[in-house]
Amino acid sequence: MSEIVTGPEGIALGAQRLRAGALVAFPTETVYGLGADALNADAVAKVFSLKGRPSNNPLIVHVCESSMAKRVVDGWTDDATKLADAFWPGPLTLVLRRASCVPDVVTGNGSTVAVRCPEHPVALALIESFGNPIVGPSANPSGYISPTIPEHVRDAFDAEDLIVLDGGHCRTGIESTVLDLSREIPCILRPGVIGAHRISDVLGVDVQTHPIETEPGETRSPGVIGAHYQPGTPARIVSRDALSTTPSSAVLLSWSIESHPNGGEIVVMPSSIGLYARAMYRALHEADRLPGTEIWIESPPLPETDDDRAISSALRERLQRATHA
Ligand code: TXA
Ligand code: MG
Repeated sequence: MSEIVTGPEGIALGAQRLRAGALVAFPTETVYGLGADALNADAVAKVFSLKGRPSNNPLIVHVCESSMAKRVVDGWTDDATKLADAFWPGPLTLVLRRASCVPDVVTGNGSTVAVRCPEHPVALALIESFGNPIVGPSANPSGYISPTIPEHVRDAFDAEDLIVLDGGHCRTGIESTVLDLSREIPCILRPGVIGAHRISDVLGVDVQTHPIETEPGETRSPGVIGAHYQPGTPARIVSRDALSTTPSSAVLLSWSIESHPNGGEIVVMPSSIGLYARAMYRALHEADRLPGTEIWIESPPLPETDDDRAISSALRERLQRATHA
């Protein structure tokens, strides 16, 4: 049975489990992660097997400061320093050349490693107390909705002996921006709340926002294509104009109306885009548990600022994949 644990005892127990090669779920500002000692190949293999994750999809290595990131990277760059200074701790993941201490299983045998310093006191305390970097994919079965409260993790892995460190409801609510710094032009592989404009401001150059295939069939980040983030109930995105036609058998996620037009279940969403992002995965979990044969998701609120536009494209990517047939 998995268990939610709180406070300093939870962090001490978490570090002890990591040292023993076991898994520990931990909160970050984005989503909950499934942690394991990043330098222990057997421990990392357990993460892939528990999540049912394809072995070619590499994991993010979480650190508590830049000096720890430099241990897993071969050739830390000036750009990495600028970005870490500007955005760490925070929801930006940097892809760089990997150091030889990083096991193949972490990187899917690739030549790069993704690193990030999360902004959550519990995550930072866990890594600091453990003393080494930890891997941390989102703590959900592969392909399913990401977790933003500890109960999502506990319920998904209840058959396991897993501890879940309690960090409340994740503040940002969607995963970090993944930025590839290993090629000539920095490229966003996964959009997040830190947008291209903010990264370009720091680097003084434009960044690419669409990953290109370098070789036919080669994907730079296998985790960023196809169906993902999916509820068990089939879901679709609908425009505001179509809301009145929502069947009563469909659970509706809406930020512009407060009751289901045809008497079915509704999950009311915030109308500010930042709060919408924070609430989205939790709402999808809730909608998935409510009785209904479908989930209808009203298109998210429209962006007004550059920061909003970054969130908007991150939401679009998540929702397109959550509703991918
Ligand atoms: O916000 C986050 O990043 C959360 C929290 C827990 O930190 N973690 C997370 O991990 O979203 P995961 O495993 O669910 O997603 C990691 C993404 C995947 O799309 C994966 O393909 C990509 O990062 N990735 C990891 N290592 C990579 C690498 N070396 N090169 C390119 N993409 C990589
Ligand atoms: Mg994930």
